[in-house]
Amino acid sequence: MSRFKAVIFDLDGVITDTARYHYLAWKRLADSQGVPFDEAANEHLKGIDRMGSLELILAGAAGNYTEAEKLALADQKNEHYKALIATMTPADLLPGAVETLDACRRDGLKIGLASVSKNAFSVLDSLGIRGKFDYVVDAATIERGKPDPEIFLKAARELGVSPADCLGVEDAVAGVASIKSAGMFALGIGDPEILTQADVVIPGLTQFKLQAY
Ligand code: BG6
Ligand code: MG
Repeated sequence: MSRFKAVIFDLDGVITDTARYHYLAWKRLADSQGVPFDEAANEHLKGIDRMGSLELILAGAAGNYTEAEKLALADQKNEHYKALIATMTPADLLPGAVETLDACRRDGLKIGLASVSKNAFSVLDSLGIRGKFDYVVDAATIERGKPDPEIFLKAARELGVSPADCLGVEDAVAGVASIKSAGMFALGIGDPEILTQADVVIPGLTQFKLQAY
């Protein structure tokens, strides 16, 4: 038995390595604009929605961009990203992901997905795991992205579980902040020196041990 009633997962960088594809797509866009961008800068973009990420990248640009130009650039990045995810299959699930989802199911927990990516449904379908979730937040319905708690609170509400009974799983600094301000337990995936706000950090889902949290 777990002390939690629901587990709410982030997608990119937790279930599958699309965090890498988001980086490559942004890098291509940044290069096209002559804006400096590297993996360290990308760390601040993880978990941040598309337009928010673009604003952070363009903060390093020499000139100014109109709203229409920004929308066009965001579209270009999304086209680069969609080309990268087009060939995804269940082989792109990160190690331990399916085992973790199945372990949570066996323990009777509700399972939610809280990704701000508007490509999340398509990625879940390519991975063949949409049916493993009781509820997937539609990013298009979210007004305030991570680190705001809105998306994790919405998942909990739709799952019918109080936030205090939820375990949130995230690879991004902004995502861990969202979980914590939603009043949930935060399991970080990655580096404890980066995910300093998480309650526990593990390197990946192969180390997931529900009873330990
Ligand atoms: C998050 C990623 O899951 O989704 C971010 O961590 C990304 O890097 C965001 O910007 C929005 O994704 P999309 O697919 O809607 O552009
Ligand atoms: Mg992520």
